[in-house]
Amino acid sequence: MDRLHTVSELRQRLASERRIVFVPTMGNLHEGHLDLLRAGHHHGDCLVTSLFVNRLQFGKGEDFERYPRTLTADCEQLEKQGCHVVFAPDEKEVYPELQQCVVEPSGLQHVLEGAARPGHFRGVATVVLKLFHMVQPQVAVFGQKDYQQCLVVKEMVRQLNLPIDILAVNTRRALDGLALSSRNSYLSVQEREEAPALYRQLSLIQTALAAGQRDFDALEREATNTLDSRGWQTDYIAIRERHRLGKPDPSTPDLVILGAAKLGRTRLIDNIEVTLSP
Ligand code: PAF
Repeated sequence: MDRLHTVSELRQRLASERRIVFVPTMGNLHEGHLDLLRAGHHHGDCLVTSLFVNRLQFGKGEDFERYPRTLTADCEQLEKQGCHVVFAPDEKEVYPELQQCVVEPSGLQHVLEGAARPGHFRGVATVVLKLFHMVQPQVAVFGQKDYQQCLVVKEMVRQLNLPIDILAVNTRRALDGLALSSRNSYLSVQEREEAPALYRQLSLIQTALAAGQRDFDALEREATNTLDSRGWQTDYIAIRERHRLGKPDPSTPDLVILGAAKLGRTRLIDNIEVTLSP
């Protein structure tokens, strides 16, 4: 496995590759990331992973500074997973000057995660486009846990005619249902015990929808109140249509239930897709 830090080394290394599969990450890898690599292997012959904590997608007061940086351990895991190239640039390599040219990802960037974290998706789309230009992959792999991020990236690829297939991979969960995330490492022992409650609330909504309940507002309110009463600060619990994350009407079949809430200082997100039968 090659460990590269500059764009010119990367371009040289990848110049003769025929089909590149790219897994962009911010590092601190867990089994969820490794699932992206496992899925990626079937789609090309050169697997490239980036490790880069992107300042542009963090808001003021968020966890950019304390985001875990674990380069050595990450590289060990990637090597075991058969990754061919690790690209771990420093900040000056990605942003040698003030980034004034940015990607503005449409209305999607203003709802849910976008509303809670203004500017977040501008930062994500901008770095992803830059990384796409650096790596020039045929396929890129993202985790469904960041549901809205997947939609933003797919829209960018479609609207800017990028010749890249986007592969979205299912969320990996711990046995108690908690979605794996690098941010889980911030949780205290007690918080870690409580953390699966977010997924449980989404699952209860899923069950209620399957049973024919269609009062979306009431379901969202109930889950929010339950989490808040257990000490969470809920940003949103939302039942949305899957394509633009707009409010569905009761006959929309393809839904996603999304949630974001803070437990102590840690903000967790999760989602479940639901298909309603007519
Ligand atoms: O999902 C992430 O880890 C990040 O948002 C990404 C896609 C690597 C961009 O920094």
